[in-house]
Amino acid sequence: MALTSQTLADLRQDYSLRGLDLAELDKDPMVQFQHWLGEAHSHDLIEPNAMTLATVDAMGQPWTRTVLLKVCDARGFTFFTNYKGTKAAHIAAEPRAALTFWWSALERQVNITGRIVQTSREESEAYFASRPLPSQLGAWASPQSSTLETREALEHSFAEQKARFEGHQIPCPEHWGGFCLKPDSIEFWQGRRSRLHDRFRYDRSPGGWGITRLAP
Ligand SMILES: Cc1cc2nc3c(=O)[nH]c(=O)nc-3n(C[C@H](O)[C@H](O)[C@H](O)COP(=O)(O)O)c2cc1C
Repeated sequence: MALTSQTLADLRQDYSLRGLDLAELDKDPMVQFQHWLGEAHSHDLIEPNAMTLATVDAMGQPWTRTVLLKVCDARGFTFFTNYKGTKAAHIAAEPRAALTFWWSALERQVNITGRIVQTSREESEAYFASRPLPSQLGAWASPQSSTLETREALEHSFAEQKARFEGHQIPCPEHWGGFCLKPDSIEFWQGRRSRLHDRFRYDRSPGGWGITRLAP
């Protein structure tokens, strides 16, 4: 049943779990992010590492989709994907991108901007080797972002790849691997009552990270 505009207008949540103070933030936003990710993980959320990735095309049109954060370290935020898909084409032409995490049970959002670099072949291969077999086959079987005439065509391609690699270790395709977003800004958002949310943004500067409180 379609929701009426009135129902949508009435959908609202007052956030009351907790606040966020400058004093409790780590000086290093990656360390702060690790704290929050750890808390999201311990809350049994479904895929706490799911993040919205925004890229822009050659016309300046932004596009978003969800990807999974698979490595989070001092370098930045790494996800894995098909290097021939739409997002990879955007990144090749314009390596700036943005990420958003939304952890509703914690009433928290994190917004990140930065530059994307391709991860090393060794890192992609090591991560690929750790994936379950069907995911490995899927990377070979699916020409990500290209047009499919039918669902059967995809299933046929999967069966073909399965037969091809039967009894063999599945190598990481050349067209598959990681991208690491190196952050230039990271904003931590904690929902508060009456829409008076707490927001702190770290901005990278030559002297290190600065932190600013932002109005909600
Ligand atoms: C929860 C979730 C996690 C996903 N994780 C990934 C991922 O890690 N890598 C990926 O390539 N696609 C992932 N996808 C699929 C993407 O959202 C997207 O459909 C796909 O990457 C093609 O995007 P593109 O055509 O913009 O390149 C995920 C989707 C969802 C809903």
